[in-house]
Amino acid sequence: MLPEVDHRLGFSPLEREFEIDALPVEGEMPPWLRGTLFRNGPGTWEAGESKMRHWFDGLAMLHRFGFREDEVSYANKYLRSPQYQHVRREGRIGYSEFATDPCRSIFKRLTSAFSPEFGSNASVTVHKLAGRFVALTETPLPVEFDPETLETVGVLEYRDGVEGIGTSPHPHTDPKSGDALNTITHFSRTSEYRVFRLPAGTGTPRRRIVSRIPAREPAYMHSFGQTERHVVLAEYPLVVNPLKMLLTGRPYAENLAWKPERPTRFHIVDRESGERAGVCEAEGFFAFHHVNAFERDGEIFVDLLAYPDDAVIRDHYMDALLSRRGPTAAAELRRYRLRPGKSASYEKLSDEPLELPRMNYEARNGRDYSYVYGIGQGEDQASWPDRLVKVHVRDGSALVWREEGCYPGEPVFVPAPDGRSEDSGVVLSVVLDAASETSFLLVLDAASFGEVARARVPHHIPFGFHGQYFGEGET
Ligand SMILES: [Fe+2]
Repeated sequence: MLPEVDHRLGFSPLEREFEIDALPVEGEMPPWLRGTLFRNGPGTWEAGESKMRHWFDGLAMLHRFGFREDEVSYANKYLRSPQYQHVRREGRIGYSEFATDPCRSIFKRLTSAFSPEFGSNASVTVHKLAGRFVALTETPLPVEFDPETLETVGVLEYRDGVEGIGTSPHPHTDPKSGDALNTITHFSRTSEYRVFRLPAGTGTPRRRIVSRIPAREPAYMHSFGQTERHVVLAEYPLVVNPLKMLLTGRPYAENLAWKPERPTRFHIVDRESGERAGVCEAEGFFAFHHVNAFERDGEIFVDLLAYPDDAVIRDHYMDALLSRRGPTAAAELRRYRLRPGKSASYEKLSDEPLELPRMNYEARNGRDYSYVYGIGQGEDQASWPDRLVKVHVRDGSALVWREEGCYPGEPVFVPAPDGRSEDSGVVLSVVLDAASETSFLLVLDAASFGEVARARVPHHIPFGFHGQYFGEGET
């Protein structure tokens, strides 16, 4: 029998904003954990009389867990984005989201489609870009916020003339320069993917395009891979016809077409020169998340979480989420082997379904590595992800953390300051405890995957997407 309250509590709104100096803590927080975990995700899907249609479209809410000595503080605040301001002022949706459209006249639809206005409802993740703390989504304008108060500073406007609509909320960091590397898709009669750099300095943020890859029907790409020399874009057969999109004026997701006859193309681009180093084709699949990529003996290995098709996007409409027990498809951890000029082949790295993957980014991004952490679910795939999983990618073995009635979010790895091995540190995850209708911040020892401590929040935290930890002195 289903409990009265189940994972669907994670899709109910949290209206209130809190500031709590010290959460009750069970266990002992690691003494070296001094810093801040920011989380991002929707706080509500309600917009006056209308509702957002998709998980991804809810109004962005930031959460802040502060770790100081023996105390864990907590605060949450809605991002005061243009979309948020419009919803609260007018009582309805003002801008297009991934799968939700404002009600507009045909004329307004056409004009806004050709010159999109961005609501900057940046609900996907948090990053430090050009020296500023920003919330990010898949539209190109980040929203800056104050890391101490979570107050919204404003939309970060790039002064560079770089055009494009769809960008990745998962930029990479160049380990040498600290620059951010990212992609943006320009939709036009001659569409293209643009790889760009954003310098690390705190000056006026200006992106510099380093490479352009033409695409007649651009694919939906949520993330990309980075090795020590290259970036790798996986172009799935989930594509948009740009002119149709402009003419229909419908939200982005409704213009996506799954074309199983098309391959997935891996585009390999030199990170420094921007030179296109090759293309490899594989069978069609879809992924939101790359995990890592690295090179060995002239070959490139790309690890990602693959779905057989695009059903996962439909599974995440609110109607489906609130009426079913879980997604229909789970993502498979695959390692693609790329040899330019040849087709790509893959091996499955683990039997554990995985999503929201994290690893020891500072130490291992772009290099061969051993461990990935993510949320997982049972083999029957009938449930919402209800466990945290650590996969050893070299032998496929896994460690699992699970507790009855609990639904964890993305596990963020934080390295221990004196860590000697790749998994010396902790993982931090916000867990929904459905029975108590609250959430807690869980701290696991990354090596053993055993619980170290938990700090309980007095309310539930809706399911979000991503977050980042910043050590003391970085905020
Ligand atoms: Fe993501």
